[in-house]
Formats: sequence, structure tokens, C-alpha cells
Amino acid sequence: MSSTHQPLAGHAALVTGASSGIGLAVAEALAVAGAAVAVNYHSHAEPAEKLARRICEQGGRAIAVQADVSDEAEVARMFDDTAAAFGRIDVLVSNSGVQKDAMIADMSLEDWNTVIGINLTGQFLCAREAVSRFRGQSPQGRPARSAGSIIMTSSVHEIIPWAGHINYASAKGGVRMLTRSLAQEVAVDGIRVNAIGPGAIRTPINEDAWGDEDALERLLKLIPYGRIGEPEDVARAVVWLASDDADYVTGATLFVDGGMSLYPEFRDNG
Ligand code: BGC
Repeated sequence: MSSTHQPLAGHAALVTGASSGIGLAVAEALAVAGAAVAVNYHSHAEPAEKLARRICEQGGRAIAVQADVSDEAEVARMFDDTAAAFGRIDVLVSNSGVQKDAMIADMSLEDWNTVIGINLTGQFLCAREAVSRFRGQSPQGRPARSAGSIIMTSSVHEIIPWAGHINYASAKGGVRMLTRSLAQEVAVDGIRVNAIGPGAIRTPINEDAWGDEDALERLLKLIPYGRIGEPEDVARAVVWLASDDADYVTGATLFVDGGMSLYPEFRDNG
């Protein structure tokens, strides 16, 4: 993959949950920015393998790697596969996420545990593995200023409560403090830890919020900027956070939400 400006040339990155939606766009954007990319998927091999092939055909480096991020042993293997392919790892984009929506009376323990397991524990497991790999790598030949960068995928729902989605909002609230606490812990190692906080982005996870005109109209009332986000909006922010251009940024959540987290209901109320 060639582009005139390649801020991530020489970096190796792992993107979890990259077979669709935001993760797929992020993996592609990192490759365009010059990174070698491990494209993780859980159950949909085809789109991940297709993306990895496309990146390679265009002169980049990529592999597709299967793993369930909520499984400790599979996470370790995924990092081994990434290191075996690229010799190192500089960037983790911890992106896997699911929704299992229900009001509390109807929310099963399984739906609670699945969402916490993937959206919160999965980000912990991947971050723990990334920190240990970053610490174990020789700084020699390291292209980046930092010793490694972790980008968690949070959400506007790390701060906006969300009825009917308490498992999801609780996980994202947890991701907020996971990001900030871990950033505080590993800054001394030169490791940066940040999160992106997407708002409503046009992906399969929230198709019922934008898939028909009425739903989209209601959704747009929550977005001051007046449009739904696209996965590429998030991908550009991730590339920046991963790059040396963001070298002094750690412990931050960068909201990419068209202003959704600005409580637009208060424009003419309160
Ligand atoms: C959720 C989407 C939702 C958006 C804004 C995201 O984190 O995954 O389903 O549309 O937040 O509410």
C-alpha cells in the first residue's frame, strides 16, 4: 500500500474485530498509513482474509488471524501469530465489540456476561498482552517515539447512560477507566493508552438506528453535526492516535461523534 504520507511506515499493528464495521475500516486505514496489519476476526474469516489479501496485493503487509478476544489462551496465540508474521508489534487497536440489548428484567446473565466478556474483559486481555510484548521488545529499530500504543474502542456510552443497554454502557464505562488507569500505569514505560469514543457510525451493529428513514430522522436529532458517522471517520482518528503526531497524548478518549456527547437536548432546554 503506498500513499504519499505514511505516518505508520515500519509499524506493526493488530486490530481486533476487523472483519466488519469500524475495525475493517481501521485495519485498511492503518495499512494505507504504512503499517503491517494483523486483521483479527472471530467467526467471519472471509472478509478478514479478503482485506488481508487486498492489502498485500497493493504492496502492503497483512495477515488474517482468528481469535476470541474474551479467551485468554486465544489472545496469547493471536499475539504470537502477529509477532511471528511481522517480528514485532507497535500498535494494538482493541476494537471487538458486541451488543446484546434488553431491558433489565429481560436481560439474561448470559447476555450480560457475553457483552462484558468481549467489550471489557477482552480489551483487558488484549491490552495486558500488548503491554508485555511492548516491554519485551528491543527499542532498536523501533520506528515510533513511544514504546507502543494501545487504542481501546470505547463509545459515547462511556459517559452517556443508555437505557435498554446496561451491559453495553457498563462495559464502555469500564473501558473509560481501564484506559485512564492503564495509561497512568504504563506511561513510565513510554507506552501510550488512549480510546476512541465513536457515536452513531453506519455499521451493522446499529442498523436498526439508521436503516430506515424514520429511524435515521430520530437518530439525527441526537447528532448536532447533522449526519451519521462513517467507519472512515473513526479510522482517520485512530491513525492519528497511533502515530507519533499524537506522541504527547495518553489517557484520552477522543470522541468521534458529530457532537453526540455534547447533550444536544440542552440546546434549547434546561
Ligand atoms: C453503539 C451504537 C449506537 C451509538 C450511539 C455505539 O457505541 O454501538 O449502536 O448507535 O453508540 O448511541
